[in-house]
Amino acid sequence: MSDLNQAWVQRDLNVLWHPCTQMKEHEAIPLIPIKKAQGVYLEDFNGKRYLDAVSSWWVNLLGHCNPEINAAIKQQIDNLEHVILAGFSHAPAIRLAEKLVEISPHNLSRVFYADNGSSGVEVALKMSYHAWHNQGEKQKRTFLTLDNSYHGETLGAMSVSQVALYKNTYKDLLFDVISIPVADTFLQPAEQTYEEFADTILQDIEQTLQNHSHEVCGLIVEPLVQCAGNMRMYKPYFLRKLFELTRKYAIHFIADEVAVGFGRTGTLFACEQADITPDFMCLSKGLTGGYLPLAAVLTSEQIYQYFYADYAADKAFLHSHSYTGNPLACTAALATIEILQQENIIEKNKEKIAYLKKISHAFRKHTIVGDVRQMGMILAIELRSDAVTRKDMLKIYQHALAQNVLLRPLGNVIYFMPPYIITEQQIDKLAQVAYQGIALIQERYNAHTKNLSTT
Ligand SMILES: Cc1ncc(COP(=O)(O)O)c(C=O)c1O
Repeated sequence: MSDLNQAWVQRDLNVLWHPCTQMKEHEAIPLIPIKKAQGVYLEDFNGKRYLDAVSSWWVNLLGHCNPEINAAIKQQIDNLEHVILAGFSHAPAIRLAEKLVEISPHNLSRVFYADNGSSGVEVALKMSYHAWHNQGEKQKRTFLTLDNSYHGETLGAMSVSQVALYKNTYKDLLFDVISIPVADTFLQPAEQTYEEFADTILQDIEQTLQNHSHEVCGLIVEPLVQCAGNMRMYKPYFLRKLFELTRKYAIHFIADEVAVGFGRTGTLFACEQADITPDFMCLSKGLTGGYLPLAAVLTSEQIYQYFYADYAADKAFLHSHSYTGNPLACTAALATIEILQQENIIEKNKEKIAYLKKISHAFRKHTIVGDVRQMGMILAIELRSDAVTRKDMLKIYQHALAQNVLLRPLGNVIYFMPPYIITEQQIDKLAQVAYQGIALIQERYNAHTKNLSTT
């Protein structure tokens, strides 16, 4: 059979530079051109299908080429494809803002659009700083962020991120922030309860706030799951306590729900599990069901009022992106939220969450597995860093591709973050393929350790 992928791969490698990729590695690991997609499956030019276990970088919620979202976009495109959002407005932007205010935590009543997760984070950081500035608090000029956090790749978002892999090369370009520890469940000592562990960390954080709150605009967090930080997780208890500290020390609380929003952690927004209303909430990724780039930053009427004044260049929030509030993207978002609501998807996901939990136990049998953790629709299997190499992780990735599954590892972590339309049978397939992939590495590890003990 002729390889129809090959021609596309060749053309691609002649002109394209892919994100988050050392291009030279494609000499050994074939690039996969995708022709079409349906539901949880991607299909290449040879007709081979791949189960998209990572929701195409955590964006897809309701399946690829979802008929209802497709129909909504098709209808919108014949009416209005785009219009400047300064001085002009349009129905999808207004309807979506109304809907976001309706479904988000109480008190978030203003919506500012941007066009991707990183730019949403930039908006929240600038708004926070600027709101203090407009109140005359000009000494507030830095941010608190959690260890192991990730908020995007633009320079501001990277400044408040702490994952060395993405940050270190550019550190001379970034502004200083204050990093504080996180009550990561992976780091919890066996002899302590989670609350004891978190309380010790919170004491440290309070000390930092006592020393620095006068110069801090806000604390930015990824609620409950640090996705790009190898899917590390922490509990609502810690999230709630962090929020309380921001109230006590008068700094903003910025919830970056770009990755976890729209049901990933089991609730529509992760903040709901700690019963908190942040000062800023950043949304993107799942916002449009994985269709089009869009971000929304929600904030309170109080913050909005700090900017509402007679025109003065330094008082208004003059941030903009050309595609801010694009009508097609807003339409995709409205259709996505409508399906989530009408089909009661978050409630229905509870069964899938329980099923993921059920299949998760088997992974603990491998001795190279260091941790298996789950938060809602995210299941992560962390392999021991002393037992596996990057090459091993690539082997698991390639094994999965050979078995028709897209499982893209993050560091030492294999994870499932699938579209919500995944069936139990498809979850079984993911589990089986991941299990086999890890077993291959376990065999190699066993042989290696046996060799060491006999020499
Ligand atoms: C928590 C979080 N914030 C922000 C971003 C940046 O989003 P984008 O890739 O759309 O710029 C990401 C991306 O993974 C993320 O996980």
